[in-house]
Amino acid sequence: MFFSRRKVLKLGMIGGLLPFLGLKACMKSGEGYTPPEVEGPFYPVVAQKDWDFDLTKIEGLDGIAEGAHVIISGRIIDIKGNPVEGVTVDLWQANAKGRYRHPHDENPAPLDPNFQGWAIVQSGENGGFRFKTVMPGKYPAADDWVRPPHIHFKISKKGYIELTTQMYFPDQALNDSDALLKRKNTSERALMVAKKSGQEDGLDVFEHNIILAKV
Ligand SMILES: [Fe+2]
Repeated sequence: MFFSRRKVLKLGMIGGLLPFLGLKACMKSGEGYTPPEVEGPFYPVVAQKDWDFDLTKIEGLDGIAEGAHVIISGRIIDIKGNPVEGVTVDLWQANAKGRYRHPHDENPAPLDPNFQGWAIVQSGENGGFRFKTVMPGKYPAADDWVRPPHIHFKISKKGYIELTTQMYFPDQALNDSDALLKRKNTSERALMVAKKSGQEDGLDVFEHNIILAKV
């Protein structure tokens, strides 16, 4: 059963966290920092052994994840453009058919046993991070709302304000009608939509830098 978009927003059901977004993070959005976004209802709760940067394969299984494989590459930087190393980049997403491996996801789309769905990586010396995944599928969030492909992030490091946000893909028609993304202004959207930066081994590479605020 899906709720109306208005009801979902009103109840804060997208993540149950609308009222609890960090005040500091809110205050600093719109000032050139990567904007925060709701966590959503599907932060992983099912334990898994494999959290590595390659979400297209699960350790111990022979198969590979369904869908278009892509590389996401970016840097964590501060507002002055300085790299921030040693940042924990916790990310999760739907599979290629739009289904999360979460007990509360009511989307009838099938699970993909070979899709890792959740990874935790660290930024390196130059603030760089990188992971391989599948292009997430769109999925229904309410009876009149289809979410565009996106990846959820929680970014944390001591001394910086923890950032929960979402990354979108360029050239997706659903970006314009998304109830969350369309609430952002043009400059905020520019900070949330990745850029296609080329190909590597036949896979599309998307570049996405994240600008983190100090405490
Ligand atoms: Fe989502």
